[in-house]
Amino acid sequence: MNNIVLIGFMGSGKTSVGIRLAKKLAFRFMDTDLIIEEGCKRTISSVFEEEGEEFFRELETKTIRDFIGKLKDTVLSVGGGLPVQTGNGRLLRQLGQVVYLKTSRETIIRRLSGDDTRPLLSGDNTEEQIDALLKFRAPIYEAAAHITVITNGRKFDEIIDEIMMRTGVNHEVISHKRTKS
Ligand code: S3P
Repeated sequence: MNNIVLIGFMGSGKTSVGIRLAKKLAFRFMDTDLIIEEGCKRTISSVFEEEGEEFFRELETKTIRDFIGKLKDTVLSVGGGLPVQTGNGRLLRQLGQVVYLKTSRETIIRRLSGDDTRPLLSGDNTEEQIDALLKFRAPIYEAAAHITVITNGRKFDEIIDEIMMRTGVNHEVISHKRTKS
């Protein structure tokens, strides 16, 4: 099983890194938020607004549970709150190697200020909301992940190279496996 699962806080670059990593590995890229948006034919914000957070969290868990035993050659990026739900860390580790993209509070605040697509940060006091969530979630991400990769001040290529090196998932291994099968 070659899959790589990217976890981390909102704004940590899971999608940007995931798309580039998948391209480099000639893997498929998937994202739980996009899958849910496609399934519900609505944005995440409107799912939160109309159905509530609990409903969204159930959809997230169902999405990864449905993948068990089915994912192959995939980079999967998951929403920032998904690993926080009880049992989801274990499910993610069954799907592939779990990589935590760790980003500083300052970078997250910079990237998310003015963002109106994240319902959890919709109030006026975004910084305080980020601080509270980060404090609670950071240890959960660490515990859920096989490896942690620091992303601050690093180029996409450096991050991707580190992920490939530390997971052992790289194009040489994959092309060798493909020529053998
Ligand atoms: C959330 C993160 C979002 C999205 C939703 C809730 C969270 O995904 O799933 O807004 O609870 O951290 P990203 O981490 O891709 O922004």
